[in-house]
Amino acid sequence: PDFIKVSTLAEKIKRPATEILKKLILMGVMVSINHEISFEVAEKIAEQYNILVEKEVKLEREEVLINDFEDKKEDLMSRPPVVTVMGHVDHGKTSLLDSIRHAKVVETEAGGITQHIGAYTVDIDEKKIVFLDTPGHEAFTAMRARGAQVTDIAILVVAADDGVMPQTVEAINHAKAANVPIIVAINKIDKPGANPDRVKQELTEYGLVAEDWGGDTICVPVSAKTKVGIDTLLEMILLVAEMQELKANPNRTAKGTIIEAKLDKGRGPVATAIVQKGTLKVGDSVIAGNTYGKIRALVDDKGKKVKSAGPSIPVEILGLSEVPNAGDILYTVADEKTARQISELRKEKERQQYFASTAKVTLEDLFSQI
Ligand code: GTP
Ligand code: MG
Repeated sequence: PDFIKVSTLAEKIKRPATEILKKLILMGVMVSINHEISFEVAEKIAEQYNILVEKEVKLEREEVLINDFEDKKEDLMSRPPVVTVMGHVDHGKTSLLDSIRHAKVVETEAGGITQHIGAYTVDIDEKKIVFLDTPGHEAFTAMRARGAQVTDIAILVVAADDGVMPQTVEAINHAKAANVPIIVAINKIDKPGANPDRVKQELTEYGLVAEDWGGDTICVPVSAKTKVGIDTLLEMILLVAEMQELKANPNRTAKGTIIEAKLDKGRGPVATAIVQKGTLKVGDSVIAGNTYGKIRALVDDKGKKVKSAGPSIPVEILGLSEVPNAGDILYTVADEKTARQISELRKEKERQQYFASTAKVTLEDLFSQI
């Protein structure tokens, strides 16, 4: 069902809105200028002026404006793997990443619980791995589910002194649903109560059988604290990534996924995206969900301003009109006008869906007063 604002209708048929309102009242439709009326009602009003109202077909144009084509094989180049670190609360996801990039992220986090998806690029010799840290708290399940969609490999962190816990199982399910290979990092093996075999035993119940137990699940015993096993874990990630032959075309307009976004007091809407195809550049006009903008600046995971970001690379984007949602798909489009148009089309679509589910009842109620 389509809806149109009384004021818009008045504008389109070039009549004062008050006149339209009077006609509406005669039809038993009690609304104000800013209310939306159904297409059928608008049509009846227009008929009285001998005007034929045509439904606008512009919503279909969105497809044309977004250029999400398949790339030719010869244009594809290898790209770094995007690895999501998953697992139960406190099993050591952030600590593990921390020891991988020799930084101190854990200490700066509020209460030591990861509040958002952090994205980091790590250089290992000539190769790059992109890591996504995900919150372990149950309330963030939905966000973590989105985390798996941009992921090539899942690292399942299981604390050797605690074993498989509810969110370990959730993480396994997310990875399986996304068809992403799982590498198990059995963490905290430095602890006195550590029992890696028990972890392997518990994992078999969820279809993950360790290689040394005759299965095909890579399990690496590690300690984020003492750094034992970290190098092996990285080797395994690169090995699995190599088998996946991950590729993307860097020489095209960008497509990416928003992994986190917030309103920054000084900088306005700030969104972190992982580029999946093409190269995102400063000055690009983009659409992300309902929001749009012209990219004012790009900031890499080290806080450094960059001019562009290619496939698999996470970047912070400044210049969006509003805060997008995590999970929104980002596209570079021809120009800012196109971006704004798509944003408006999507907002209109959303409004229509909203009215179709709620306000329609109200309109029908009004009709029944006739
Ligand atoms: P959430 O983000 O809240 O889900 O937690 P997390 O999985 O990121 O765990 P985090 O890295 O914050 O670690 C939780 C606690 O375990 C911290 O106190 C760490 O110091 C400790 N820890 C992590 N890894 C190890 C390890 O290998 N050995 C020991 N002994 N302690 C560890
Ligand atoms: Mg954490």
